[in-house]
Amino acid sequence: KEAKLWGGRFEESVTDAVEKFTESISFDKELYKHDIMGSKAHASMLSQQGLISISDRDSILQGLDEIQRRIEAGEFVWRTDREDVHMNIEAALTDMIGEPAKKLHTARSRNDQVLTDFRLWCRDAIDRIIASIKNLQVALVTLALNEEGLIVPGYTHLQRAQPVLLPHLLLAYVEQLDRDAGRLIDCRARLNFCPLGACALAGTGLPIDRFMTSNALGFTAPMRNSIDAVSDRDFVLEFLSANSITAIHLSRLGEEWVLWASEEFGFITPSDSVSTGSSIMPQKKNPDPMELVRGKSARVVGDLVTLLTLCKGLPLAYNRDLQEDKEPVFDSVKTVIGMLEVSAEFAQNITFNHARIQKSLPAGYLDATTLADYLVKKGMPFRTSHDIVGRSVALCVSKNCQLQDLNLDDMRSISPVFEEDVYEYIGVENAVKKFSSYGSTGSACVANQLDYWVAKLEISRS
Ligand code: ARG
Repeated sequence: KEAKLWGGRFEESVTDAVEKFTESISFDKELYKHDIMGSKAHASMLSQQGLISISDRDSILQGLDEIQRRIEAGEFVWRTDREDVHMNIEAALTDMIGEPAKKLHTARSRNDQVLTDFRLWCRDAIDRIIASIKNLQVALVTLALNEEGLIVPGYTHLQRAQPVLLPHLLLAYVEQLDRDAGRLIDCRARLNFCPLGACALAGTGLPIDRFMTSNALGFTAPMRNSIDAVSDRDFVLEFLSANSITAIHLSRLGEEWVLWASEEFGFITPSDSVSTGSSIMPQKKNPDPMELVRGKSARVVGDLVTLLTLCKGLPLAYNRDLQEDKEPVFDSVKTVIGMLEVSAEFAQNITFNHARIQKSLPAGYLDATTLADYLVKKGMPFRTSHDIVGRSVALCVSKNCQLQDLNLDDMRSISPVFEEDVYEYIGVENAVKKFSSYGSTGSACVANQLDYWVAKLEISRS
């Protein structure tokens, strides 16, 4: 057995079970690129500070480049007995270049090293998620542009409420996604501080330059407190919280589209390319991708809960428990990106069933609130108009008709305020035209929102 990098004081080697239980190489090799990046910045700083020679630095830098090449070519052998990504790379470097490699870990601990790697990794992951969010926003806005005038029933309590333009509804998701990206941008700015040089927890007496490494790695500044630097995981908690909120938004979108694809709604038809079948029922065509978007949100929330629970009982400073922070983060990122990508593909592969939607619009008195507003415009207090329209709806229910089927005498028997112009306010098409408040479903208001997103997302109108 090879001696451990930390083996000096040990007389026995660890048991196979302990080695297997404590290793992290099986998952933290994901950090290799950022580990090498951090080591290169560290080696350059050590030589500038006179802690290692320029020729040692050069052999370290070349050796690390060669290791990266081997990893990416699939030639690198990851060894469980070398425990984690940091020691795998350091030991491989020692195998390759000998003595100079033994100087790389000067004024560094795996505790600050792993946090440096992890913050760099999360920073890149945030950039990838933001790109995927934008991609989905573009897909939703494109869908909205293609269906600019389409009226659909808007729901509250999943009961028919008021008519809305489909783009208005789609843009609601675009807004939510924008805040999701905003949370990630905030998180990125807060996590972009450099732990390197905190060493095990207390810093070092060696003359390192933490500002140099921080700068070289694109961090805003070195972290002020070395104990905080190796202990804290709030950047991860914040990141996974942001991902959880995104996942919940996508889950709601998934639920809506699953409903809309049902026979009962029939508002959308997903293309075959985003549907799957049943192993027993030959007729089935299911919207599985969006069901799984809904389902996978559970993992993302679970990842956050794992991390919260992991951190809750830990005293300062580093504790080995913290090694458990990687897999939930990797899983959360992979899952959220998958959810965003599949949602965008789904959006690109659905058609809205205009005839079916049109046919369904008369049901549910979607125009009732607009009728109440009509009476307000005639000078009636809203509470009174609410009551009068309520009674008009009751009359329709008893006659099994819509508001616009009532004749003026019927209406005037409920209130003399109704006049001939009432028919410009009822019927779903008329009702939707009456909306005019900022942010409302009125066509000019929705057109403004569309213009905003087309410009912001740099979409070209075809
Ligand atoms: N693999 C470890 C982790 O992910 C690296 C830090 C180990 N430090 C230690 N003192 N054992 O947390």
